[in-house]
Amino acid sequence: MGPPGVGKGTQAVQLAERSGVVHVSTGDMLREAVQAGSELGQRVRGYIDSGRLVPDAVIGDLLAERLDQPDAEAGFILDGFPRTVPQVDILATALDRIGARIDGVFILEAPTEEIVRRLTGRRVCPNCKAVYHVEGRPPTEPGVCDRCSSSLIQREDDTEEVIRDRLTVYRDETRPVAEVYENQGLLVRVDGTGSPDEVAGRLGSAIAAREGGA
Ligand code: AP5
Repeated sequence: MGPPGVGKGTQAVQLAERSGVVHVSTGDMLREAVQAGSELGQRVRGYIDSGRLVPDAVIGDLLAERLDQPDAEAGFILDGFPRTVPQVDILATALDRIGARIDGVFILEAPTEEIVRRLTGRRVCPNCKAVYHVEGRPPTEPGVCDRCSSSLIQREDDTEEVIRDRLTVYRDETRPVAEVYENQGLLVRVDGTGSPDEVAGRLGSAIAAREGGA
């Protein structure tokens, strides 16, 4: 969990690679649907581009379908779900159905100015989904993906105005989710400032501590 741009995707991708489980990002799944021009993509495009949340029922069905895939059997790292209180119940039902449970909920935190700096400088590869930052993690050749040589793009929702709206949505709709998990004893707060490696180190320690103590 964490506000837009705090580094959830950056950390979740690495963590999934290290732990051999799949990375399930609802944002990536929705953007893929938009890119493919599917019926779902056409329905959700306006929400994503303006920084509003897609309706719970739509995202809930998408998530349940994803968790039914064979590659999720060994476990998964959820990135960007749940982000409303009703989605907490949707997740609980989906997990019950497949006999899985939540090991921990890790929330990354960073000051707003840092988040705005990270998001306005973000560039992404529409093909392989690699994430860059114009200053912090630039590609070797400007505008070109190191991994697959596709042209990098700026996400529609990474303009300063939409970023502010996304932060408001996060405060109003997603922060209450953290409270729910805090009350369940599942929430672990992780400082998201510093370099990606520093954050990965803290996250790894937080996970190890939880595994040791849980
Ligand atoms: P989603 O894609 O989930 O967007 P988000 O939560 O706003 O998060 P971001 O992907 O913007 O940021 P991130 O935290 O992953 O940061 P990143 O690692 O890329 O959702 C998009 C939209 O889809 C939503 O607005 C909504 O419409 C819809 N949606 C998705 N899930 C939904 C749900 N459950 N319900 C309803 N609607 C839903 O890093 C950002 C930048 O910072 C990068 O450039 C990176 O290189 C850089 N960076 C990362 N870490 C560091 C660091 N430590 N130091 C310096 N730079 C760093």
